[in-house]
Amino acid sequence: MFVDNKIENNVGILTIDRPKALNAMNPDVLWEIDQSIKKFIEDEDVGVIILTGAGEKAFIAGADIKVMQQLDRKGALDFGKLGQEITMTIEDSPKPVIAAVNGFALGGGCEISLACHIRFASENAKFAQPEVKLGLIPGWGGTQRLPRIVGKGIATELIIGGHMIDAQDAYRIGLVNKVFPLEILLEESIKFAQVILGNGPNSVAESLHCINYSAGQSLINGLDMEVESFSQLFETKETNEGLAAFVEKRKANFRP
Ligand code: CAA
Repeated sequence: MFVDNKIENNVGILTIDRPKALNAMNPDVLWEIDQSIKKFIEDEDVGVIILTGAGEKAFIAGADIKVMQQLDRKGALDFGKLGQEITMTIEDSPKPVIAAVNGFALGGGCEISLACHIRFASENAKFAQPEVKLGLIPGWGGTQRLPRIVGKGIATELIIGGHMIDAQDAYRIGLVNKVFPLEILLEESIKFAQVILGNGPNSVAESLHCINYSAGQSLINGLDMEVESFSQLFETKETNEGLAAFVEKRKANFRP
C-alpha cells in the first residue's frame, strides 16, 4: 500500500507514502490515488479532500523515472494517459481537493498539485517541471494547466528552464495560495477545509464546475453555463436554507 486514507470531521485526508522514492509515482501509486479519490468522492461523510505526502521532504518527486526508463512509445502513451486521467478525476471532483504540498512537488508531482483546486505549501516546499532535464516534456497536464494558473510567460520559463522554485516564489507567481511552516501545514489545510464545509455543498460543487468550465471557453459560453447553474440552485433546499438563514439572522445549516 502506497496511500494512507483517513477521514477526520468530514475531511478525507489522502497521504502518499512511498518514502524510499520520495513518494514518486509508479502505476501502483497512481492506481491507489485514483481509487482513493473516487472513494472519497462517493463517501457521504467526506465534504473536502486533502492530498499530501508522507514525511518532511517530499509531496511527490514526480513520475517514477526508473519505470519510465523501461517504456517504449506505446507504454509511455498508456502511462501518460493514466496520469492524465487521475488529474481529471481530481479536477472534476465535485468536492474540493486541497493539495497540502509538504516538500518536493516535481514533474508529475507538481502536475498532480496543479489539478487540485487549491494549493497550500510548507515553507520548505519546492516546485519544478524538470522534465526537459530528462529529455522529456510534462506528460500529466503541466503544459496545459500551468499556463492557466500562472500565465503563459512564467509557465514557459518554468517548463523550458526546468529549474526549481521555492515556496515563496511559488506564492509570488500565484502557483500556491498560501505558505505555512511545515508543522502547521496540515492543520491550516484542515482549517480551510472546515471553512468550506460551513458553506453549501451544492454551491461549492457548482462553483468548481463553472470555474473548471471557464478554461478554454468564450466569455459568453461561460456566462451561459454560470447563469444556468445559478438558477438551478433556486430549486434546492440548500439555497432556500441559505437565503432564509440570512433573513432570519441565523447561521445556515447546510449539513443537517
Ligand atoms: N523517480 C524514481 N525515484 C526517485 C524519484 C523519481 N521521480 N525521485 C527520487 N527518487 C529516488 C532516488 O532515486 C533515490 O532512490 P535510491 O536511494 O534508491 O537511489 C531516493 O528517491 C532519494 O532521492 P535522492 O537520493 O536523489 O534524494 P536527494 O535529496 O539527493 O534529491 C531530489 C532529491 C532533488 C528530489 C532528486 O531525487 C530528484 O531530482 N528527483 C527526480 C525529480 C524529477 O526529475 N521528477 C520529475 C520526473 S519526470 C515526470 O514526472 C514526468 C511527468 O510529467 C509525468
